[in-house]
Amino acid sequence: MSVPSSRPHSRLPSRSGTPSIREMVHEVMKHFKHEKESEAHQIFRQQVGHQPKGFLPQTVNPDEETVPGIEHPGSTGVIYCSDRAMANGFSYAQSHEWANLGQGAPEVGPIPNAHPRPDSITMPLDSLEYAPTTGVKALREAVANLYNHTYRQGKASQYTYENVCIVPGGRSGLSRVAAVVSDVYCSYQIPDYTAYDQVLSAFKRLVPVPTVLDPKHKYRLDIEQTKKDIRTQGLAVIIASNPRNPTGQVIAGKDLKELVALGKEGTTLILDEFYSWYIYPDHERDFGKSVSSAEYVDDVNTDPIVIIDGLTKNWRLPGWRVCWVMGPKNLITALSQSGSFLDGGANHPMQLAAIPLLEPSYVAQEKIALQKHFKAKRDHVLKRLHDLHLDVDIPPHATFYIWLNLEKLPPPLNNGLTFFEELLKEKSIVIPGIFFDINPAHRRNLFHSPCHHFVRLSFGPPLEDLDKGLDAIGRVVKAARKEGTKKFGHSYKKSLETAPEQI
Ligand SMILES: Cc1ncc(COP(=O)(O)O)c(C=O)c1O
Repeated sequence: MSVPSSRPHSRLPSRSGTPSIREMVHEVMKHFKHEKESEAHQIFRQQVGHQPKGFLPQTVNPDEETVPGIEHPGSTGVIYCSDRAMANGFSYAQSHEWANLGQGAPEVGPIPNAHPRPDSITMPLDSLEYAPTTGVKALREAVANLYNHTYRQGKASQYTYENVCIVPGGRSGLSRVAAVVSDVYCSYQIPDYTAYDQVLSAFKRLVPVPTVLDPKHKYRLDIEQTKKDIRTQGLAVIIASNPRNPTGQVIAGKDLKELVALGKEGTTLILDEFYSWYIYPDHERDFGKSVSSAEYVDDVNTDPIVIIDGLTKNWRLPGWRVCWVMGPKNLITALSQSGSFLDGGANHPMQLAAIPLLEPSYVAQEKIALQKHFKAKRDHVLKRLHDLHLDVDIPPHATFYIWLNLEKLPPPLNNGLTFFEELLKEKSIVIPGIFFDINPAHRRNLFHSPCHHFVRLSFGPPLEDLDKGLDAIGRVVKAARKEGTKKFGHSYKKSLETAPEQI
């Protein structure tokens, strides 16, 4: 069922300057739009784990859970979007027919001027044993060395292997950290990386405290306000991705220095720096620079700064599952303990294979190649969106994501979940904004989410795929402008097949 749009003349101001009855009705109607009127949102709510919760009289929908003691955490945005794509005919066998602009991973094939992609590894007998839960010492040393070389030259306090814990992927790093956060207030921002939703809910001791970032301030974290919140709300931990997924904004330089200094207020900062190389400078001379809070840490063992990064995005090796958490020694011993029951450590042979990839001269060449290639893709996508009159309000300076505001499109195409469903009909995938509204699905009316009107487009995939997806967006938008929106907002395929691991 589509939401009827108001007729254009009803928006005209009355001659007296005070709002006309029509204007007032329009204003009121705007606020009465509800997710129940939208087929795309009803499909979302029907999937296990996505029913609204927290409403009286029951806190958990009794029809939803059938295994005693088990409660679905709710699928991550990635899995939901994979399910919906499968219901619309997506399969890995025919994935080349689809454009996946939802992809949260960079292209893994060769790119100009980068090193050839690793295509084999050796497996010495020792590597068939378990690796320590903190990781192989030589790799921990290589990580510490890379950070000292890149961000800490000439500083008295240097990272050593004891400040590094190798983990089997970024999410595992986040879970290991979340598992050792005690009963404290943990601040996070909206929008941010989808997996924080589940990570912050699964570990029940910490109490998540949201802050909504304002597009008027380009989604910047207000450091002065955060300082006040630390004092008045007693925030003990702050978690944020920087550069930020999905907005593509980055806290750098003086602002990052101030953020790191919050550690001195007695607050631990968990900075998820997976996109630290995906920075797009304006000047040729700045290619090759990356961003990390490691640059502003005074003492690596007393400043409570926790950095998470790894091979997933910067090295374009998401399948290797080799990542790390860096911080004070005392944190690393806690992470060793949580790793020993959560995941048991990263793959031993892959850790050995990763060591040469952390060599500073190898990294320097990779960074420049990556930044040039992805900057060109970003500019290409922004230009094509401009040609479709879909200009991006706040273009990304970092990451490989575009946070696209759909508000100017006619309803129902102006909401992210419906836009997503319409693109599935065109064999293209984007991610609806609501998945970046951490912890929303179970509570508020989805139409009231600050991310309701957005989708995230990824320029991680190769250029040909990006063009395929932009062609699809062009078809949907042009049809809406030319033929109206009657054919949108309904007739979605309902069947949800088993989800593939990743999209
Ligand atoms: C901000 C951020 N952190 C962590 C990750 C996940 O890393 P991994 O795939 O290694 O678990 C992602 C992936 O999309 C991300 O965007």
